[in-house]
Amino acid sequence: MKSQDIRKQFLQFFESKGHLIVPSAPIVLKDDPTLMFNNSGMAQFKEYFLGNATPKSNRIADTQKCLRVSGKHNDLEDVGFDTYHHTMFEMLGNWSFGDYFKKDAINWSWEFLTEVLKLDKDRIYISVFEGNESENVPFDQEAFDLWKQYVNEDRIIKGNKKDNFWEMGDQGPCGPCSEIHIDLRTDEERAAVSGFSLVNEDHPQVVEIWNNVFMEFNRKADGSLEKLPAQHVDTGMGFERLCMAMQNVTSNYDTDVFTPLIEKVEQITGLKYTSNEVKNISEEQNKTNIAIRVIVDHVRAVAFSIADGQLPSNTGAGYVIRRILRRAIRYGFTFLGTKEPFINQLVAVLANQMGEFFPEIRKQQSLVTNVIREEEASFLRTLDQGLQLLDNVIADTKGKQVDGAKAFELYDTFGFPIDLTALILRERGFDLDEAGFEKAMQEQKNRSRAASEVSTDDWKILVEGNTETFVGYDQTENDVKITRIRKVDSKKDGVLYQIVLDATPFYPEGGGQVGDKGILVSANESIEIIDTKKENNLILHIAKKLPENVSASFVAKVNTDLRLSSSKNHSATHLMHLALRTILGTHVEQKGSLVNPNYLRFDFSHFSKVTDEEIKQVEDFVNQRIQEQLPLIERRSIPIQQALDEGAMALFGEKYGDNVRAIKFGDSMELCGGIHVQNTANIWYFKIISEGAVAAGIRRIEAITGDAVKDYFANQENTLAEIKETLKNPQDILKSVTSLQEDNSKLKKQVEQLVKDKVDGLKNNLVKDFQEINGINFLSKQVDLSMSATKDLAMAIGSSKPNSFVFLASIEDNLPNIHCYISKELVAEKALNAGNVIRELGKQIDGNGGGQPFFASGKGKNIAGIKQALEKAVEFLK
Ligand code: ALA
Repeated sequence: MKSQDIRKQFLQFFESKGHLIVPSAPIVLKDDPTLMFNNSGMAQFKEYFLGNATPKSNRIADTQKCLRVSGKHNDLEDVGFDTYHHTMFEMLGNWSFGDYFKKDAINWSWEFLTEVLKLDKDRIYISVFEGNESENVPFDQEAFDLWKQYVNEDRIIKGNKKDNFWEMGDQGPCGPCSEIHIDLRTDEERAAVSGFSLVNEDHPQVVEIWNNVFMEFNRKADGSLEKLPAQHVDTGMGFERLCMAMQNVTSNYDTDVFTPLIEKVEQITGLKYTSNEVKNISEEQNKTNIAIRVIVDHVRAVAFSIADGQLPSNTGAGYVIRRILRRAIRYGFTFLGTKEPFINQLVAVLANQMGEFFPEIRKQQSLVTNVIREEEASFLRTLDQGLQLLDNVIADTKGKQVDGAKAFELYDTFGFPIDLTALILRERGFDLDEAGFEKAMQEQKNRSRAASEVSTDDWKILVEGNTETFVGYDQTENDVKITRIRKVDSKKDGVLYQIVLDATPFYPEGGGQVGDKGILVSANESIEIIDTKKENNLILHIAKKLPENVSASFVAKVNTDLRLSSSKNHSATHLMHLALRTILGTHVEQKGSLVNPNYLRFDFSHFSKVTDEEIKQVEDFVNQRIQEQLPLIERRSIPIQQALDEGAMALFGEKYGDNVRAIKFGDSMELCGGIHVQNTANIWYFKIISEGAVAAGIRRIEAITGDAVKDYFANQENTLAEIKETLKNPQDILKSVTSLQEDNSKLKKQVEQLVKDKVDGLKNNLVKDFQEINGINFLSKQVDLSMSATKDLAMAIGSSKPNSFVFLASIEDNLPNIHCYISKELVAEKALNAGNVIRELGKQIDGNGGGQPFFASGKGKNIAGIKQALEKAVEFLK
């Protein structure tokens, strides 16, 4: 059965059992501060388990794109070395929200595996929770009895808390679970060793395929368990492993999920991958296999994250993506000999394979390809530079062991992988001070852990059973009650309180727009709200202190000045989005947006610089619509299909409900939950202040509206006035500047000629000072010239005589610089190298530098060292 069909069978089966089939949530999570990526099917349903929202059906099934590379579940370092772990994988899942429980879940999973897919019953093992006294959770007798209908008792394992109690994080919903394992070994192997003894023992062919979690507890901040208000089912089946079982192979990488990608790598590199059935392979072949597995695994994670809107970057989720891609590039570089970008070529294969079920990868194929190609090129350059830096480190090493802290610096500042450092060192006969490296690494981890430490208290519930409503589209003030509060203590922000209200006018950060600020006022006090955020469907009002009396009645008042400024920027963002698509083309798609009271920032896909002319057109387009005074047409809740049919723009990587809010100004219509002006005239004026690149194929525009434009023009006017004054108030300012420029370039030419004459004169003088040492014409001197003129002089003198070795030094801006010229014939015959000379003598002036064997330059900090450097040059030659 093809993987595509296996996926379909699963969804059809659960549809037939009354489940609503929903699409995978984006792989990157947007409004959950505790998790960067979706790491299991249930992540998108967390708010239902917590009771903060109501699902549209109490039975749901789907296949979810998951990524386990950070936090509690992290498989990254295993990937490639074994045949059944992945960074990105698909999790097939079915859920009951307070509906069916253990009986149906167990019966259906058995029915699906053995009757629909017809997997061999004799190969299946089951585990159930053995119970845990200190948690006060008993042995799961019910699950055990249910399974006994299908499998013999001697195939049911009683598992401990680590294996059979599932928790998604340190806090939150959890419960005992029951896993289904499958034994894919040959009959002979199975006869020799029982599968029972291999369950949960990391055997590559005796693997867990499906986990059925019976959610009934909530893990609280103090570590204790409390019963959830209702019982739920959360299941997750590893799609790639199921494909392995169904396709009669013994490695996930031998299924059709991966083989097309592997074939493409083989085609590009000319190397061969051997399937898991081929035994006794060489060490070399094993390394090739590992590298290919790393690459075909990682490209999926990276491509889908980019398609869901997460670009590689230097922080947060973007940094995780960048590191995964770099791991792939580095395995190709070292083990497949790939020195040019190539991983990007796999995106086309992926789009072809998965595009039917996950259209985002097909629609964004060219963007994803370009971003990956550019990242590859840039990291390959880093690797090149790193190799040079490593050369320097080796040159500075006394003895045979390279300083671990130095290796860490290469790793930390340049992203140069430590295993590559170790490998190169071994090849050169050095070894790495691993303990030193580990120590430096640990110290850094401790620093960043301390910096990101957060402790979150449990919610204190003041009003039970409340689901909060948002009234902020119509009001900026409301009479409210506090329904729950919680304290959060972090190194970064100190102690803050999160306050939830029954009906709030505060807009929580979302869709690029920052959260509202404002106050909560009661008869006796006023509490400042410094930010508003959304988490698991709750709107959190952030405050530095709590009211004395939390049960009092309050008026929640939004700071309307800030909100109005943000709304101008938000509405202008919509108009600009349409302008860009109209003027540059419909390939323009939003890739990121920030809207705050001061300005707006918009990232979008486009492959070249936006020209000044185009910028002007975009500004005109937006300002035109501002002048037309277009009223806001808000459709608060319409079916998503209707909105799309009417031409509303939707974004990739956003999770939309069945009913959406649409915002329309004239011909601009977008799905959006943000706050907008009532009429485009309120924006007053729109001005772009910068345009640039953020990544391959992604441009960024920053722009301002309203009062900020007035300030901007006032500033420009001031600057102009200052220029005028500096130029002594000429009649025609432009003419004055042009004539200054002309004078300047004339003078430059004259200075250049003078310096050239001086260099010639010095050259004629210095040539007389050549000494002959061991058959080499040697000269070393300090001269009074600029750095670049000294360089020219060294070249000129050096090339005026055969067999020459010239070493010159000078001072520019109070800093010493040195230059070395060595005739090509000496480089060839005597293996002399100007780069080495500069590196060695550079130490005298606290400097460094480099270049080519026949010419190199360096800069330093210690002027006093010039004398020694000049003297050492003679010694060096002798
Ligand atoms: N949430 C459960 C898991 O990820 C099903 O294993």
